[in-house]
Amino acid sequence: MDVRSVLVADARRMLERLASGSITRAPKVTSRPSSIYTDADQFEREKEHLFRRVPLLLAASCELRNPGDCKVMDVVGVPLLIVRGKDGVVRTFLNACTHRGARLMRECGNAARLTCPYHAWSFRLDGSLLSIAARESFGEIDRDAAGLVSFPTTERAGLVWAIIDPAAEPDFDAFLSGFDQLLAQFGFDTWHHFKSRSLPGANWKLAFDAHLEFYHLPVLHRETFGSGMSNLAEYFYLGPHQRLGLLTKADHVLEQDDIAGLADMPESEWPLASLLFGEWIVFPNVSINCFYKGGRGVILSQVWPGQTVGESETVQIFLHENPPDEEHLADATAMSDFLGKVVGTEDLPMSREQQSVLSSGLLREVRFGRNEGGVQHFHEWVDRFADSPKDLPMAQVMQRP
Ligand code: FES
Ligand SMILES: [Fe+2]
Repeated sequence: MDVRSVLVADARRMLERLASGSITRAPKVTSRPSSIYTDADQFEREKEHLFRRVPLLLAASCELRNPGDCKVMDVVGVPLLIVRGKDGVVRTFLNACTHRGARLMRECGNAARLTCPYHAWSFRLDGSLLSIAARESFGEIDRDAAGLVSFPTTERAGLVWAIIDPAAEPDFDAFLSGFDQLLAQFGFDTWHHFKSRSLPGANWKLAFDAHLEFYHLPVLHRETFGSGMSNLAEYFYLGPHQRLGLLTKADHVLEQDDIAGLADMPESEWPLASLLFGEWIVFPNVSINCFYKGGRGVILSQVWPGQTVGESETVQIFLHENPPDEEHLADATAMSDFLGKVVGTEDLPMSREQQSVLSSGLLREVRFGRNEGGVQHFHEWVDRFADSPKDLPMAQVMQRP
């Protein structure tokens, strides 16, 4: 893939659309039964056929910059431990001691070895068993069989993906469809983790739908983004993934209006940062949004299914190209607080309201407009995974019409 020419073509289309003041519309208005957000069986199928099957974007590389850095998180009920080894390789393990199942690590940090808080078995950073406490009294075991349960993991574009199925035969290329090559242009491998926070929401798809359209921006977010914000998204699809360009000529709260600024410049000089500006959706549950306040940065949002069909957790991870120095720190903090407020006090409360309405069972269906093509695209791909046999090879799932 000639990455720059893809990005230039995207920007060219955005400029044309900006000039005409219209977007490329989806072929038709579609609908879905409301039960996709409330049905417990559907939710179980999504966890099993989607979240425990496809590569999930779990972390930014800079959250685990040094050997021994680790991150703990629970994904669809599976406790995970992500660790950068002494060899620099990032691995994902079940966060479970192989003695009797204690959680090995309780919080993120840096460790030379992984020592269990229950009886002090310890493991190397590559997951192999290092020592059994009081081995002479415990007895002998097959050490090779007592290493940590590990999950297929890859680090690309400065981001970490893993498949929450130890037996998976990973086909990361088929799933990522080249989207990782586009994301690699950000150079996230040298960026910095600024801060993270977690926010509760309703059904994970209700919470994530709000990342997939700009239709609601000047309405739901009139107090924060302002009622003058554009509501037009131009969509670009690559496999199940997508990118949204905001069509606006006005200066907006994200502090830089990159696409409009390209109009007077020869294409060969279009800066990479401008070509990348906008929102990037990594299927099934991650959005990456660019901003400039406090220095060039992105908010990487992960929307994780919660314990029940009506619950989710949105994790906001703020990454900056350069660590905010004294001059930028107040702005970087203000930007992160602002985006916490937008999502935490506007988007997610709306998702909970929708959840309670839809749970009445009396609204038969919901509709996605021709200006919400990305939402349509997302639900088509969720269905494609949820409805296909779990053992169907990834390449075949991706190719199905
Ligand atoms: S459960 Fe970990 S050492 Fe016993
Ligand atoms: Fe929103």
